[in-house]
Amino acid sequence: MDNLAVIILAAGMGKRMRSDLVKVLHPLLGKPMLSYPLELTLEHLQPEKTIVVVGHQAEQIQDAFSDPRITFVRQKDQLGTGHAVSMTEPLLGNFKGCALILCGDIPLITAHTLTELATRHRTKKASLTLLTTHREDPTGYGRIIHGALGKVHKVVEEKDASSKEREIKEVNTGIYCVQARFLFQALAKVRSQNAQGEYYLPDIVELAHHKKKRINIFSAPSPTEVMGINTRAELAQAEGILAERVRQHWMAEGITIQDPGSVFIEPSVSIGKDTVLYPNCYLRGETSIGEGCRIGPQVEISDSQIGNGVQIRFCTVITESTIEGGAIVGPFSHLRPHCHLEQGAKIGNFVEVKKSRIGQGTKANHLSYIGDSEVGKGVNIGAGTITCNYDGFHKHRTVIEDEVFVGSNTALVAPVTVGRGAVVGAGATITKDVPPYALAVGRAKQKGIKRWVTKRDRKRQKESDEDV
Ligand code: UD1
Ligand code: MG
Repeated sequence: MDNLAVIILAAGMGKRMRSDLVKVLHPLLGKPMLSYPLELTLEHLQPEKTIVVVGHQAEQIQDAFSDPRITFVRQKDQLGTGHAVSMTEPLLGNFKGCALILCGDIPLITAHTLTELATRHRTKKASLTLLTTHREDPTGYGRIIHGALGKVHKVVEEKDASSKEREIKEVNTGIYCVQARFLFQALAKVRSQNAQGEYYLPDIVELAHHKKKRINIFSAPSPTEVMGINTRAELAQAEGILAERVRQHWMAEGITIQDPGSVFIEPSVSIGKDTVLYPNCYLRGETSIGEGCRIGPQVEISDSQIGNGVQIRFCTVITESTIEGGAIVGPFSHLRPHCHLEQGAKIGNFVEVKKSRIGQGTKANHLSYIGDSEVGKGVNIGAGTITCNYDGFHKHRTVIEDEVFVGSNTALVAPVTVGRGAVVGAGATITKDVPPYALAVGRAKQKGIKRWVTKRDRKRQKESDEDV
């Protein structure tokens, strides 16, 4: 948008959170709270300038959001929201357009509402447009005070409000559109004689009224999208609202979600149609899930790519991995980072896989560990197979070529290669490469002692007779 600058306030510590972490870095459905207004600004509003006012834990915030389109401005001492905005004067003092002021602790705001706010501000040629809402319980918010003729006169903070003013349910959302020229003129006049001894940004409303500037009000379409997060309880409430928005989106896109309230889908996840999500699934980060998959119950998938028609069964955890179409994983499987399962591969119960490629149609169905391995196509990994990839100092690779049969309870001591089509007998400890199509047996030879049990029993009987 031309002639638009966005200021996002994020310098406060957020004392009411009772945390060592600055409020705007608290995660909300997998991403720091501040990323919501910030992404919306950069992607949808595309202003001429995006300024974030930081103070507490400024370095951490700047590191988390390094982007050349963002300018960070420091507010050394947190003397109030008005003082925070005045820190942007060196950058916006000569700006001809309007400043849209957002708060880092109002993450549920939508692009639609902000675009509407900026458009109305312009068409009404206002000096100041206030985004307001009505709340059944207005506790904690600044109240909007209208004059006898219905005009807005001022905003009164909860702590400064009389008991009559506290009954007002129309509240300030903390989001405003202000002509930059008027904004800095007004801020120069804001004083800190109030209950909190702070320079309040909302005081510019009263100044605008006295100067007979045009003040416009825009009421947000829903009070939930403008809720401010000041406490852990509000954080949990906001996360619930956001999660429900994301679930509604995917259900509208053709995803079945059984027991939606128990399923969490982070906003960066994508899901193909006719996929079914069973209860208690958590889909995180840059995860994409194909069409016609069945996920869950009780599954956590992070930063992974899942093809079409994949089944991820009960109690499975998958991280930073790729699973091609038709594969089946679980129940009770763990895919740690950098696994790649090719088409139709099967990983079954109590199988852990790490940094390994599992070829097309290969099966590891029970009780195994496969780490740092390259497993070819059509391989059968028997129950209890372990790749011994770590010698106490370094990790080593295991290569199992196509069509290999690995018998149960086998230890493959890496680095080692089992050649194409070879068979490894059950119970082997393989320390040397196995040539293609060979049989490798690595276990103590079985001995048979004839009539051993009869002899033992006779001996026992004799001993007990002597005892009597
Ligand atoms: C503010 C408004 C209130 C409004 C409410 C909506 C003021 C005085 N009050 O109250 O009218 O109803 O938001 O949620 O503005 N910040 C700074 N520097 C500071 C102080 C705050 O950057 O010196 C930042 C905070 O990090 C936060 C935002 O400004 O992101 C709002 O501050 P907060 O203390 O949460 O204000 P509220 O009490 O919620
Ligand atoms: Mg707040």
